[in-house]
Amino acid sequence: MISIQGVVTGSYIIAIVLFILALGGLSNQETARRGNWYGIIGMAIALVATVIGFVKPETYPILLAALVIGASIGLFAAHRIQMTQMPELVAVLHSLVGIAAVAVGYANFMGHGGQLSGIELTIHDIETYIGVLIGAVTFSGSVIAFGKLSGRIGGTPLTLPGRHWLNLGLLIAVFWFGYQFVLGSAAGAGMLPLLIMTAIALLFGIHMVMAIGGADMPVVVSMLNSYSGWAAAAVGFMLGNDLLIVTGALVGSSGAILSYIMCRAMNRKFLSVIAGGFGTGGGTSAAASGEQEGEIEAIDSQETADLLNNAKEVMIIPGYGMAVAQAQHVVNEITKVLRGKGINVRFGIHPVAGRMPGHMNVLLAEAKVPYDIVYELDEINDDFPNIDVSVVIGANDIVNPSAQTDLDGPIGGMPVLECWKGETTIVLKRSMATGYAGVQNPLFFKDNTRMLFGDAKDTLDAVFKAL
Ligand code: TAP
Repeated sequence: MISIQGVVTGSYIIAIVLFILALGGLSNQETARRGNWYGIIGMAIALVATVIGFVKPETYPILLAALVIGASIGLFAAHRIQMTQMPELVAVLHSLVGIAAVAVGYANFMGHGGQLSGIELTIHDIETYIGVLIGAVTFSGSVIAFGKLSGRIGGTPLTLPGRHWLNLGLLIAVFWFGYQFVLGSAAGAGMLPLLIMTAIALLFGIHMVMAIGGADMPVVVSMLNSYSGWAAAAVGFMLGNDLLIVTGALVGSSGAILSYIMCRAMNRKFLSVIAGGFGTGGGTSAAASGEQEGEIEAIDSQETADLLNNAKEVMIIPGYGMAVAQAQHVVNEITKVLRGKGINVRFGIHPVAGRMPGHMNVLLAEAKVPYDIVYELDEINDDFPNIDVSVVIGANDIVNPSAQTDLDGPIGGMPVLECWKGETTIVLKRSMATGYAGVQNPLFFKDNTRMLFGDAKDTLDAVFKAL
């Protein structure tokens, strides 16, 4: 006879395989939809197996009530949230994983410690301590990230004097209270060190994210993603749940790889980003101080359409403003018209364009832009000298030449799409405002740049009509 435990273990193995297939699928645009389905099915199997295997039938009503409340909030939020608010939503979700790890850690400490002794108790305590530590850092860091991504907290990094010493002091205190916690736990005196460590970890999470400048936020987003995975894995250890350990480790390690990719894309060292202080706007040039530098030349939608009609090679560079304007569908319509006229239209995607990894790819896929004309920065950057017209749609930092000239500035050293090397660049934006990093953009003042002012959707609708 097959035991319930056997069914649960078998289901967990199937769920883990599906999660791995989901990650594999999500690594490519063409297979991403399938990857999502693998993830959804895996999660459904995992939930049902966990309920059957671990929940006593008498607690089903409580669980059902929690599920209904949680799922309703989730559905409501998912319907209300605009595409531009997705990064904030992700930060909120990370914070929930963090607070869940803290709650499970405390429950675990108060509920089960008494039945253990010796080395088993020590291991249990260390698991609890690490779980609460990672959970608290993830929680407070994600709350601050939410504030920064939604604009409620400014992008300027908080650089306290002696902040590295402060971090070191906090780390030493965490070790010290960990020692006290393990020592005191057997005698029932572990609660105080655990509470103090939780407060330190919350403080550390706040300080860590506050110290990171606006331009480096992509690394923070992926790093907190990784932390939330490790927090889930820590919960798995505390609850003795293998599926949570594996799933948490998958999220943790894929988030860590993403952080590495983001750092490489921005030409930053991971440790320097975490230590904070980038994005201080330390540069002294006009570009960094936000002063204007020369004349700009405006253009209208008819002139834009004429330039596009006469081009052979067109590069479209989308940025955060395309997401704000929801201009991706008209961009696709324009692309179809131009391609119909034999014009080679391609898209150049910067790894940190928008506000979350893959933001532009998601929008273009939603609008059904063919995948094979969408290129990454390093695949396309050498082609700009052959481009007749580059159309920059609501992008700013990712096409800012000062990244190459003002190396001490907030985006100094970050690779950018070198559209100014083409014949003409048309920049679509509403004003002369700076981008997310707060740096003025010398691209707008170049001789071969034309500014098309207005909401990107409205101006592109007009360009489409003129075409
Ligand atoms: P930004 O530098 O933020 O520039 C976006 C531009 O779009 C703004 O200058 C804005 O100018 C324009 N805009 C806004 N709404 C518009 C609308 N409705 N119509 C037309 N234009 C509009 O964007 P980017 O070039 O994509 O660079 C991304 C930045 O965000 C980088 O600094 C990156 O480090 C940071 N960041 C990225 C991520 C990830 S993971 N991708 C996460 C956090 C932060 P106007 O106001 O004048 O219109």
